[in-house]
Amino acid sequence: MTLTPYDVLVLGAGLAGQRAALAAAQSGATVALLSKVHPVRSHSVAAAGGINAAVGAGDSPAQHAADTVKGSDHLADQDAVEILCDEAPEEIRALERHGVAFHRDAGGHLAVRPFGAASHDRAVHVGDITGQAILHVLYEQLLRHDELVDRYEEWFVTTLLRDDDGRATGCVARHLRTGNLVQFRARCTILATGGAGQCFRPTTNAVICTGDGIALAYRAGAELMDMEMVQYHPTTLGETGILISELARSQGAHLCNARGERFMERYEPAELELASRDVVARAEQTEIDEGRGFPGGTVALDITRVPRRRTLEALREIVNIGRDFAGVDVTREPIHVRPGMHYIMGGVRIDVDGATSVPGLYAAGETACASCHGANRLGGNSLLDTLVFGRRAGAHAAARAREVRDPAPVPAAVDDELERIGAIGERRRRGAKVPELRRELGDAMHQGAGVFRDAAGLAAAHAAVRDTMERAPRAWVDDRGAVFNQDVPAAIELEHLLTVAECIVVAAAERTESRGAHFRTDHPERDDARWMEHITVCAPGTAGDPPHLGRRPVTVTRWAPQEPTF
Ligand code: FUM
Repeated sequence: MTLTPYDVLVLGAGLAGQRAALAAAQSGATVALLSKVHPVRSHSVAAAGGINAAVGAGDSPAQHAADTVKGSDHLADQDAVEILCDEAPEEIRALERHGVAFHRDAGGHLAVRPFGAASHDRAVHVGDITGQAILHVLYEQLLRHDELVDRYEEWFVTTLLRDDDGRATGCVARHLRTGNLVQFRARCTILATGGAGQCFRPTTNAVICTGDGIALAYRAGAELMDMEMVQYHPTTLGETGILISELARSQGAHLCNARGERFMERYEPAELELASRDVVARAEQTEIDEGRGFPGGTVALDITRVPRRRTLEALREIVNIGRDFAGVDVTREPIHVRPGMHYIMGGVRIDVDGATSVPGLYAAGETACASCHGANRLGGNSLLDTLVFGRRAGAHAAARAREVRDPAPVPAAVDDELERIGAIGERRRRGAKVPELRRELGDAMHQGAGVFRDAAGLAAAHAAVRDTMERAPRAWVDDRGAVFNQDVPAAIELEHLLTVAECIVVAAAERTESRGAHFRTDHPERDDARWMEHITVCAPGTAGDPPHLGRRPVTVTRWAPQEPTF
């Protein structure tokens, strides 16, 4: 199958990818949107609580930006933060025009509710299924503009292509239904494949969040940034990692230890359960580590504090999750939670138009790092990031595509990938299987690079990653067929996870201070004199060497660093 080159190729069809594809198409570009799952199954569907925009009385984009910078522990690039917050209200209005039925208050205004570490109620929402609601409406828009965007659903990208000048020219992807490999050429390529939560166990992230875009970009020579900044969400469900939205706490739920103490009173008496996520996650982990948790290493989230009627109205999904996955009626008894990996603030370094350090290659959403979240993302800012920077990447890539020529086909691209991927199915059925290595990796990362870190733990995590890297090329798969084979992509996903995991641990070992979500017990203070800088990560010149680290200054526009007050 030979395809005509596209102006813009978008890889990943969650909110960032769909928003980018629509923006590129509306700018007049020919667009292909390719995703490894059906678009409405993308992980954006799991975003529950809301999307931040300063639309409430007394709020302003400047206040939203100030909260975001403070929440980031002053690592965020403030030019990106200002764009994020300034463009938020219009993005919400555009979504409403497209058909997202955001809740409105009794006066008919957009309803906003509180979220952690925000000075104003700012989370615009659709019940507790905000991500799902937006995802479905954007998908409807894609269907409506069927003639503008070619959708390739259930295609798995195996490699990015570059020309002799180093310019991104598309990708090779495997059609999951048939196993066929196809070359997609494009003048510009946008990576929007989501995060890399599956590097850790437990995680709130779907099994599809395997860092594909981050790893592909890294291998194609792109610079990554802030990779050490990994957010743990305070309320995830035991082993499964299923997210219990911050919304529960925003509506009044308490966190209690096994002695029945509302322990946040000791850690953060002002903000209590609505302190920033890193603070609450560390408080919980401390309670658990010091023996005040429940058996199995949990604390209790007491939603019975919320009036029952409000719970049934505003927290419906949490009621369902409690019943279906924990056998708990959250309106009558507490549910047990613990911190679980939720989000990576780092990713492929982009400028405010989504451009990476590789010409022709863009990134958006959790794959990317404009560093608008710095060391810690505020709840409600991730959906916003996908939409604002997704739109900007789509529009900018479309404009750039007008200035460059169609890329030539890469004759050996498909054959090379056929050989590489064919070999996965030929592996001997001996030793570890792919899912076993994935579990080991998740456990090692949680252990050494989780809520609390130190040099020894990070070194152990790095050694585990390296060991798994050695074994991964021999890890075998059950399914050797072509049709809907999920095992072969899983082997490639494991390679992606390992690449990303190594970048996380080396950057975390490098940052000898504590800032935001990165807490080093051996360096417990924030050190602005040495560390008001981003860490960048690039592929080494020699294959097999560890990643190459660099530094970049933090962009400060209006908010000089302040001592953390929560
Ligand atoms: O808790 C939550 O609803 C998560 C929201 C977010 O990560 O933005």
